[in-house]
Amino acid sequence: MPLVTPAADTMPRSGIRRVMDAAWALGKPFIGMHVGEPSFTPPDHVIRAAEEAYERGDTHYVPNAGVPALQAALAQKIREQNGIDADATQIVVSAGGAQALHLALSMIIASGDEVLIPDPGWPNYAMAVGLLQATPVRYPLKPERGFIPEIADLEALVTPATKVIIVNSPSNPLGTVIPGEVIEELVRFAERHDIWLLSDECYDALTYGVEHVSPARFDTKGVVLSAFSFSKTYAMTGVRVGYLVTPKGVAPIAAKLQEPMVACVNAPAQAAAIAALTGPQDQVAFMRDTYASRRELAMRKLTEIGVPFIEPRGAFYIWIDVSALTGGDVEEWAVRLLTEHQVAIAPGTAFGAGGEGWARLSLAADSDDIARGIERIGEMR
Ligand SMILES: Cc1ncc(COP(=O)(O)O)c(C=O)c1O
Repeated sequence: MPLVTPAADTMPRSGIRRVMDAAWALGKPFIGMHVGEPSFTPPDHVIRAAEEAYERGDTHYVPNAGVPALQAALAQKIREQNGIDADATQIVVSAGGAQALHLALSMIIASGDEVLIPDPGWPNYAMAVGLLQATPVRYPLKPERGFIPEIADLEALVTPATKVIIVNSPSNPLGTVIPGEVIEELVRFAERHDIWLLSDECYDALTYGVEHVSPARFDTKGVVLSAFSFSKTYAMTGVRVGYLVTPKGVAPIAAKLQEPMVACVNAPAQAAAIAALTGPQDQVAFMRDTYASRRELAMRKLTEIGVPFIEPRGAFYIWIDVSALTGGDVEEWAVRLLTEHQVAIAPGTAFGAGGEGWARLSLAADSDDIARGIERIGEMR
């Protein structure tokens, strides 16, 4: 049999998927706090817009960069909600945020390049970078700094091969939101070294009492690429629509790359995305309020059982310190929690070595599950 590439062969599976497989294999009911899948459905008008698009016969190819009406609505959204001074020609619609990130990386890295990625951080960064034959270099996010990046750590990791830094705020798995002044420092860092800053803002609509600040606001030299998604904001994970915002002149190259990757994004899904952006936003507020109340509940329950945590400021995760419970191997502990107490969580090491001793609970689970799940974690002592 011919060989697959070493990069494909050696790409690790997501550690979260491993927990999902083990949970399904249990053969009995379990409390699932391991995945970032919203428990909501998209707003009705969004679903109707997709249905109408199919009925109208919007089933043909559309432009590589996305349908113009969606690009225009997105330009308005990023100007009004993200403070990014960009127009429709700087936006490329993608198949979810994941493909926006992959598209950006495909455009800016090659074999041998190095990419700074957060540790702990979303596992897909290392996967995508490795698949493009470049090297992920993890930059530490430290508990004593509230898991906020430190420029001195980044400076120590830059080499002539460094091409990109990936920044994720609000963070999965940490629930942190990087303050505006640090975001500005990160953009200056990228500008100083003439590297790209690829900003993953898939949770931009989900913050609790703090402002999400988009790096592109501070971009004076055209180094920031920003990936966004409809998945979390509108509970549209399976609809697969996201978008990449680029400096002027870069989007046509990204649009060209869509041709061999996906040709274009599903046309009815783009109609759904237009409806999501231009229709009523009350369900977005409802979902955010629901996550906010689950966040309060989780913090209260964790305090009751004496498990420390990082207070989430964004996204829908809570990052908990289980080092006193695990005996040094959080993955093994997570498996025991699943088999002995039927609670599925994501072990911190699924997000990098910096996650040892930590675990991520997803607030996409419903309140009863969150309460009972945390009580069972308390029983593991
Ligand atoms: C940090 C982060 N970025 C990007 C994504 C991509 O989501 P999607 O491809 O569904 O837009 C996710 C999904 O879980 C995520 O957690």
